Amino acid sequence: MTETIQPVRALRGAVKLPGDKSISHRYAMLASIAEGTSKLHNFSTGADCHSTLGCMQALGAGVEKNGTEITVHGVGLDGLKAPAAALDAGNSGSTIRMLSGILAAQPFRTTIGGDESLSRRPMARILTPLAQMGAHIEARDGKFPPLTVDGRPLEAIDYPLPVASAQVKSCVLFAGLYAGGVTTVREPIVTRDHSELALQDFGAEVTSIKGVISIQGRPRLMARELAVPGDLSSAAFFLVAGTLVPNSRIVIHGVGLNPTRSVLLDFLAAGGARIRIAQLAEGSRELSGDLIVESARWQGGVMEKSVTAALIDEIPVLSILGAVSEQGLIVRDAGELRVKETDRIAAIAENLQRMGITVHVKQDGFEIPGKQTFHAAALDSFGDHRIAMAFSVASLIAGGPCTIEDPGAASISFPEFYQLLRELSA
Ligand code: S3P
Repeated sequence: MTETIQPVRALRGAVKLPGDKSISHRYAMLASIAEGTSKLHNFSTGADCHSTLGCMQALGAGVEKNGTEITVHGVGLDGLKAPAAALDAGNSGSTIRMLSGILAAQPFRTTIGGDESLSRRPMARILTPLAQMGAHIEARDGKFPPLTVDGRPLEAIDYPLPVASAQVKSCVLFAGLYAGGVTTVREPIVTRDHSELALQDFGAEVTSIKGVISIQGRPRLMARELAVPGDLSSAAFFLVAGTLVPNSRIVIHGVGLNPTRSVLLDFLAAGGARIRIAQLAEGSRELSGDLIVESARWQGGVMEKSVTAALIDEIPVLSILGAVSEQGLIVRDAGELRVKETDRIAAIAENLQRMGITVHVKQDGFEIPGKQTFHAAALDSFGDHRIAMAFSVASLIAGGPCTIEDPGAASISFPEFYQLLRELSA
């Protein structure tokens, strides 16, 4: 299948986004091992988070879905049961990496795998710390899914993370729930802290000071009622589109503004984007608010180190903004992009080149000169949701209609994307 995207004159209107993907995964897992019935509002509609729900259900948690309202009947820390068949994490790296921390401590054997893309993603980063905790996990070729996890009692560790990864940090913290004593993770660069906040919400004892996060093992986790804020990484497509399409004004309601994620807003604002936070919501550990974006000339920017780590999911769409910016965009320290749902550096470069855009590719990043013009082209999502949506945004300012091969990849995180884009274009 292909999607045709027409260039537009303006994007105007208001949208509400599906719940944050990262937060939805964590709430689903923790609600399943908490005691009692949790209510999760505005749960992500993305296929990835429904893969997590499917796994938790197969492990014995009760899951009822009513649109974006999810009820989870938790079974308690020691209540999960051996699944009847292998668990399917689909396309979701978050599911397999974070859930493995929980599976490693269960008194049964589980196999967990996923689709072709997931089967190529590196797992050594979780296997190493989990082995130190005493876990027994077999992986294809020692490092790829599927994983066969022979659960057993785990020991607490103090683990310096070699790669800045919130998924790996979360995997170790979730395993630490089951270990006696205090498990500590030391981050080289501070990454998104949704697990730390969610663990506290469900009643775990977690401390976090300057990238050193500790969790006390064997807590009593209790059911909660929680609302998931809109996904800032989904909002990013509209923040960039609203900036680069002239005469635009988009209101995005209820977006998650956790400071470990809102680095995006600072980076856009530093280049001259016109984005305002209109209304901050209070009363939950996860900050959220309404955003208003209006068209602006973006100056460009240089992204490296901790900023790159914080913006890793937004780089595909920021590359589009970079090409039309005044001074271009330089992305450094982004080697992790090569091991996402696809090699995102290669996918970005290929699609940009098809649109007539010059890009200088490096092993761990790229440089895109500014003041370039997008030409109509036949584009490819390469089966990657963020590539599909980033190049839909590029198509809005192309010289003519563009097509995107396998546009349905967007539904991994944002099934409503094309519909909302049409509404804003009308
Ligand atoms: C995520 C962490 C990041 C991010 C991914 C979601 C999370 O991955 O790219 O989309 O929810 O913890 P890494 O942990 O591999 O950096």
